[in-house]
Amino acid sequence: ADSQAPDRFGRWLRDLRISVTDRCNFRCRYCMPREVFGPDHVFLPRSELLTFEEITRLVRAFSRQGVRKIRLTGGEPLLRRQLDKLVAMLTEVDGIDDLALTTNASLLAAQARALRDAGLSRVTVSLDSLDADRFARISDTRVPLSRILQGIATAEEVGLAPIKINTVVKRGMNDGADLLELAEFGRAHGYTVRFIEYMDVGTTNGWRMDDVVPAREIVDRLHARWPVEPVDSDYPGEVAQRYRYRDGRGEVGIIASVTEPFCRTCTRARLSAQGELFTCLFAARGHDLRALVRGGADDAELERRIQAIWGRRTDRYSELRTTEANRARKVEMSYIGG
Ligand code: GTP
Ligand code: 5AD
Ligand code: SF4
Ligand code: SF4
Repeated sequence: ADSQAPDRFGRWLRDLRISVTDRCNFRCRYCMPREVFGPDHVFLPRSELLTFEEITRLVRAFSRQGVRKIRLTGGEPLLRRQLDKLVAMLTEVDGIDDLALTTNASLLAAQARALRDAGLSRVTVSLDSLDADRFARISDTRVPLSRILQGIATAEEVGLAPIKINTVVKRGMNDGADLLELAEFGRAHGYTVRFIEYMDVGTTNGWRMDDVVPAREIVDRLHARWPVEPVDSDYPGEVAQRYRYRDGRGEVGIIASVTEPFCRTCTRARLSAQGELFTCLFAARGHDLRALVRGGADDAELERRIQAIWGRRTDRYSELRTTEANRARKVEMSYIGG
């Protein structure tokens, strides 16, 4: 079907974020706390995961429904074996003009070249501190910080650019020296650091409003050190507010999904590793597309289903965050990949 339709609030479907695994080798306190995701935690068995063929087939249907931008996420996407094969398959899909990856970079040095060769456009690395001890504590991992830095450097070497760094800012966790150190790192290497307001995703991170460092405060601190000015967004619905350093040392971004929600322009859908379609990061449940694919539905049927789900969409969680409607159970972020 070549007919496309916006959701109930007039928002078109443009981005698809695909989780390729629910596993991660880190246990970031704010995402997969070890008390909850411990040795006994049951992850999805392989048979439950969409195969690369199934993902590619769905992406073709999504692309015909308007998706132009794909982001591979996890858990940690580089834990999925032969991810470069999936990248190669997705670059063959008509209509996709941006194929990016969000990773913790622990396995990036080893895979960057193959990913680039397969046709990946760029990577975004999650990194919350440049202090080795704080990094280890926040991410609750034994992977040394040096390996993350190596991953980033290799990505740059092979041309997976522009490189972005995502930093979740949480009060008392990394809102001290870390902010300016990370900004300085970005300035020195030409990476765009994006500071993200800590969000109440999932149900395990014990989120409190007091833990959020408001975007305004972050910008003010950056500005006091290196004056910045706002830049127009790259594309409609861009999540990050962009700022340029007045001294010409590149850009920095702020993702203010708590204090300045951007649901009004949200064109994002999410596909879980099991093939459920979520129309919001905070949705309580997804729509099972895998059953359709495995049940032998043809392409037209897949598209009709996607269109029907999107057409009924009324999500705007971040705008309603503090209201009554928001008591429902939410999906874990490590499950749909942020
Ligand atoms: P670019 O295409 O490089 O601009 O990436 P992006 O900002 O779309 O994606 P990325 O994975 O880097 O997302 C950055 C962060 O923004 C995520 O980690 C989330 O914390 C947050 N985010 C992304 N999309 C949404 C969304 O739809 N809703 C909310 N509330 N937060 C989002
Ligand atoms: N709030 C904000 N961002 C988060 N991320 C994970 N958990 C949270 C949270 N509670 C970020 C990761 C990664 C991206 C996909 O989401 O750091 O960069
Ligand atoms: Fe893993 Fe990313 Fe979650 Fe950290 S934030 S536990 S690296 S998925
Ligand atoms: Fe989109 Fe939901 Fe995030 Fe709002 S809260 S921007 S609707 S994903």
